[in-house]
Amino acid sequence: MNFATNIVITGFMGTGKTTVGQILARKLNREFIDMDALIEERARMTIPQIFQRKGEDEFRALERQLIYELALRNGLVIATGGGALVQDEMRQTMIQSGLVVCLNASKADIRQRLAENQHRPLAAGWESLFESRQSAYAQIPYQIMTTGKTPEEIAAEIAALDRGALYVNTPAGGGYPIYIGSGLLDWVAKEAESLGLAKHVAIISNETVAPIYADRLLRTLPRADLITVPDGEAYKNLDTVRAIYDQLLVFGADRSTTLIALGGGVIGDMVGFVAATYMRGIPLVQIPTTLLSMVDSSVGGKVGVDLPQGKNLIGAFKQPRSVIIDTDVLHSLLPLHWRCGMAEVIKHGLIARPSLLDPDLWNLENAEYLVRQAVQVKIDVVEVDPYERGIRAHLNLGHTFGHAIEKVTQYAIPHGEAVAIGIVKAARLSRNLGFIDDALVERILKFNWQLGLPTDIALDPERWYAAMSTDKKWKAGLSRLVVLKNLGEAAVIEGLPKEDICAVL
Ligand SMILES: NC(=O)c1ccc[n+]([C@@H]2O[C@H](COP(=O)([O-])OP(=O)(O)OC[C@H]3O[C@@H](n4cnc5c(N)ncnc54)[C@H](O)[C@@H]3O)[C@@H](O)[C@H]2O)c1
Repeated sequence: MNFATNIVITGFMGTGKTTVGQILARKLNREFIDMDALIEERARMTIPQIFQRKGEDEFRALERQLIYELALRNGLVIATGGGALVQDEMRQTMIQSGLVVCLNASKADIRQRLAENQHRPLAAGWESLFESRQSAYAQIPYQIMTTGKTPEEIAAEIAALDRGALYVNTPAGGGYPIYIGSGLLDWVAKEAESLGLAKHVAIISNETVAPIYADRLLRTLPRADLITVPDGEAYKNLDTVRAIYDQLLVFGADRSTTLIALGGGVIGDMVGFVAATYMRGIPLVQIPTTLLSMVDSSVGGKVGVDLPQGKNLIGAFKQPRSVIIDTDVLHSLLPLHWRCGMAEVIKHGLIARPSLLDPDLWNLENAEYLVRQAVQVKIDVVEVDPYERGIRAHLNLGHTFGHAIEKVTQYAIPHGEAVAIGIVKAARLSRNLGFIDDALVERILKFNWQLGLPTDIALDPERWYAAMSTDKKWKAGLSRLVVLKNLGEAAVIEGLPKEDICAVL
């Protein structure tokens, strides 16, 4: 008897529910139920015959009965019919019984798949049916885009969700999993096929990270090349991008090559940009190795490089195929970079998840839990606002102050430390505006002290303000800053007078 909760695979006809379900059931050693096949077996008729002789209502009644029956069982992999979970009540029943995943496919793919199968009862008017079911499908907690993926890859994605991977839904439909755990670097090789890494991959890393971790991937992935670039923000530029393009050509990388970004946020941003542009875009897997890149930069698809005139001025949105976070790699991180990552964790706690603000969690022993909670904040934000037109801006709490510090000090102050100071400034501004009280400002100061992060810097306020006012987000000289409305709640304030801002600098 398998006591695990059920895995239920649903989605429109032609999305591969049955094939994927069979593979998944084999992989997890579970019983597989194809609802349509079971209904046919029990009715001793094919589904087209049930539709013809008894009508759709009768078919739906049989389907409903079966859903209630299966929801009471455990350990199954169930492939539903395409319309089975369209009704709220049926969907909720299955959601309560386990993990429900909706498979999506582009209309073109469905058209092609249906053309190959003439036995579907509803295939004739499928396009309007497709449209009418979208809102119901969208309410299913996990969405997987199947276009361009093999059934094995999709089954692996569902297995990952079942193991507790997080999942990010992306604007184009579909999404990508985020695997978090100890020892995942070695697991990558074992799952190479399902992760899409069995073909040619180019691992791109830097001179610090590559010698420690790249070999484990190089040795075990079937066809992997390594490109190593110099370490540091100073190299996150178009010259390095160009050097990477050249190397990729030398390695014969084509559109089927997958890039693995192995490193911190600098590598993730730059390799993401290469993946977005090389041959008009090739697959990307992010393996972030700093706390900051795990909880922030590897998720959400913002990629790019710096120009001498400013940071991240050239960029794109490039969603990874997956993000693999092996929390063991944090052991080799310098304390400075741990602290810098913690500044972003504190930010996530302040804007959305105050439970992250518990100092007992801020250590390597709790890294997996800490990263998981902090990443979830980023996911929640980027799913609602993938292109930063609204609440994604909240992730910039402290960043306008911080970026200006980096600029004025010519990047002598690391990003995380600059952000930590920026958060204090944003908190003081929020207090001056009457949103939060002194006690919360004091608490934030104490977080920085506990983590060894700075709380202030001696900068000329005029230069600081001038650097802030070149921020990409300020429009026509009008300020745009993120403030705290409360603990766990942020807001964007526009057009604050210069005096108010300079008062906290
Ligand atoms: N795209 C986004 O949404 C986003 C969000 C936040 C920050 N960023 C960008 O991220 C960058 C900062 O990222 P970062 O803080 O990770 O810096 P980083 O990539 O420079 O890494 C910091 C240092 O740690 C080293 N390192 C990385 N992993 C290591 C490991 N496991 N063990 C030992 N050393 C290791 C690196 O080589 C580097 O020297 C900035 O360029 C920033 O603009 C992007």
